[in-house]
Amino acid sequence: MRTLLDELKGRVADLVPARAYPLLKGAYASIYYEPDRVKTPHARDSVPETLSEEHVRDAEVVPAREDMLEAFPRGGRVAELGTDEGDLSERILSITDPDELYLIDVWGSKEFSDRSVEEVENRYADRIADGTVEVLPERPDVALDRFEDGFFDWVYIDTTHTYEQTQRELEIAREKVKSDGVMAGHDYCLGDVPAGRWYGVIAAVHEFCVEYEMKLTHLSLETHGHSSFAIERIDP
Ligand SMILES: C[S@@+](CC[C@H](N)C(=O)[O-])C[C@H]1O[C@@H](n2cnc3c(N)ncnc32)[C@H](O)[C@@H]1O
Repeated sequence: MRTLLDELKGRVADLVPARAYPLLKGAYASIYYEPDRVKTPHARDSVPETLSEEHVRDAEVVPAREDMLEAFPRGGRVAELGTDEGDLSERILSITDPDELYLIDVWGSKEFSDRSVEEVENRYADRIADGTVEVLPERPDVALDRFEDGFFDWVYIDTTHTYEQTQRELEIAREKVKSDGVMAGHDYCLGDVPAGRWYGVIAAVHEFCVEYEMKLTHLSLETHGHSSFAIERIDP
């Protein structure tokens, strides 16, 4: 759940120029020490050291995330959590030809994306008009909450990549995808090295696989290291 502190941080971020934001963030981190933020995500007691055989035996390694999309079902209902300017959305549309594609993002927040929702609406105007694409400028938990359970065939998670956020998004995605649906996502890696930022995707995904008996079905192996993953229930 978004805390009052998160809310406040968002408002401050909206007030300062984008270029000054990293400075502000550094100053904040040195004044307001949050032990959980400096802890490596995979060092938490709740995170398993690795997965067991049953979680990985069906995993297919593919060269790139587009190959993973090739393996996904055609048609159906799909959500992309974290769309930015909509580059992956284009690949989702051309490769998997969904009946309905929901693009969800908090566009316009200085912290994550300065793209505007209008850019994406213009880019996909034809597909919005033909009823395939719907653009939802909201946080994923808020947006997905309006859909009935088991609505989606698959979702792709690509927002902040923190451990906490990934955990929350996997939890809500689990409710909203069909029992044999797929939960996929980006940045299954340890972090953004140039920015010196840890990601918690691997930790959150592994913990989730153990807790809810899920298995990895696909892992992409791009050289830049920002792999994509896909998981589904071991026993749907
Ligand atoms: C890496 S980009 C997404 C890229 C896109 N999936 C692609 O591959 O083309 C991450 C996006 O997540 C969005 N984002 C960050 N935090 C979010 C949140 N809490 N809720 C929704 N979107 C968020 C940002 O606005 C940004 O556009």
